[in-house]
Amino acid sequence: MQPLPGWPHCWPCFCLLLLASLGARGALQYPRAAPEQVHLSYLGEPGSMTVTWTTWVPAGSEVQFGVHVSDPLPFRALGTASAFVDGGALRRKLYIHRVTLRGLRPGVQYVYRCGSAQGWSRRFRFRALKNGPHWSPRLAVFGDLGADNPKALPRLRRDTQQGLFDAVLHVGDFAYNMDEDNARVGDRFMRLIEPVAASLPYMTCPGNHEERYNFSNYKARFSMPGDTEGLWYSWDLGPAHIVSFSTEVYFFRHYGRHLIERQFRWLESDLQKANKQRATRPWIITMGHRPMYCSNADLDDCTRHESKVRRGHHGKFGLEDLFHKHGVDLQLWAHEHSYERLWPIYNYQVLNGSREAPYTNPRGPVHIITGSAGCEERLTPFVIHPRPWSAVRVKEYGYTRLHILNGTHVRLQQVSDDQDGKIVDDVWIVRPLLGRRMYL
Ligand SMILES: *[C@@H]1O[C@H](CO)[C@@H](O)[C@H](O)[C@H]1NC(C)=O
Ligand SMILES: *[C@@H]1O[C@H](CO)[C@@H](O)[C@H](O)[C@H]1NC(C)=O
Ligand SMILES: *[C@@H]1O[C@H](CO)[C@@H](O)[C@H](O)[C@H]1NC(C)=O
Repeated sequence: MQPLPGWPHCWPCFCLLLLASLGARGALQYPRAAPEQVHLSYLGEPGSMTVTWTTWVPAGSEVQFGVHVSDPLPFRALGTASAFVDGGALRRKLYIHRVTLRGLRPGVQYVYRCGSAQGWSRRFRFRALKNGPHWSPRLAVFGDLGADNPKALPRLRRDTQQGLFDAVLHVGDFAYNMDEDNARVGDRFMRLIEPVAASLPYMTCPGNHEERYNFSNYKARFSMPGDTEGLWYSWDLGPAHIVSFSTEVYFFRHYGRHLIERQFRWLESDLQKANKQRATRPWIITMGHRPMYCSNADLDDCTRHESKVRRGHHGKFGLEDLFHKHGVDLQLWAHEHSYERLWPIYNYQVLNGSREAPYTNPRGPVHIITGSAGCEERLTPFVIHPRPWSAVRVKEYGYTRLHILNGTHVRLQQVSDDQDGKIVDDVWIVRPLLGRRMYL
């Protein structure tokens, strides 16, 4: 047990509080109404940003915000709180607060604090996302970031302070695990990412490490677009349509067999809609935790020729055909604790644009596996001989910078934390403005 902050003087009171806290089962460590674990997300409504945070007692849900650091913050927005009870033995109760700020001016920097009269957070800053397709979003992309050994976090923090990104894509596997130690590991993780996540929309998809208690820590702690509690959703960012989904429906089927089909039908219709607006938003980018292909030296699904994510369950609801059919440009994956870039590929066939410029007018989707942000499980080795479809493999901690320059040009850079921020992979994907719907 840690000493209770601000409670050193009165021992009888302390003991009373202790008993009361024990009664409240587990609220012991942070018995306050002050917000913590503050983070942002974007629910897809232009000019909005959503703030999510945690308290340990019921409290108001308010955000005060404005454009100047020193002034009193002139605007306020109200939201709601919901109680989340973790599935662990202590049944710890978290109050998750959600407030959506609206009418934000595109590209303008805002200052905010969240909480209520019972306690306020410190002030944070963020830049409102720009609207429309004609700007160049920059994203940090990674998966598999733990509360222990979070190697990429210091540099991500620095990049965030320097304004290098507009959003983060965390491709599954958080904290290792959010439910552990009666969800205290989740609390520790959410505090750890706050310097990044309170300043940038932190967009997620579920990984296998979120599985406990039916993904409830994942669903409760994040606030993603749509009505599936972050299991699958999509959103538009500049010239891109970004689709997030759960590969876990293929593996933890006891939580709901119907989820594979429900998600698949949703993906189908979402990709159809995305193709209707493709002339204005040419890029379709997917993010899901477990890859279809990988050349790691383990026994994961992606090492199997007929991986479930690729081919589906008994050959049904496989994602490779679906994504190929709808002309998905770029597929972001994690799960393997390494970085791997594939040549454009469909059904094990390498489909380079040309030998000289494989990613210019590629004839199949491009896959990137970026799961080396750092966690207690450390890095994953590769098999000795790269597969013919594997272009680059890096067994070093790091993360990916994704720059969606415009409707035809996207740049991917892999940052190595082992090499003090050196760019160890750098590639442009170039596709024409029109005719993106199908690969020929
Ligand atoms: C798990 O969650 C999903 C969606 O969030 C729900 O449809 C399903 O019924 C749940 N399964 C169990 C066993 O609670
Ligand atoms: C794809 O392009 C790369 C780089 O030029 C080359 O090494 C590889 O052999 C090409 N693969 C095929 C099947 O053309
Ligand atoms: C995107 O940027 C590249 C590089 O500056 C440029 O060559 C290309 O014409 C641009 N495409 C569009 C659609 O503006």
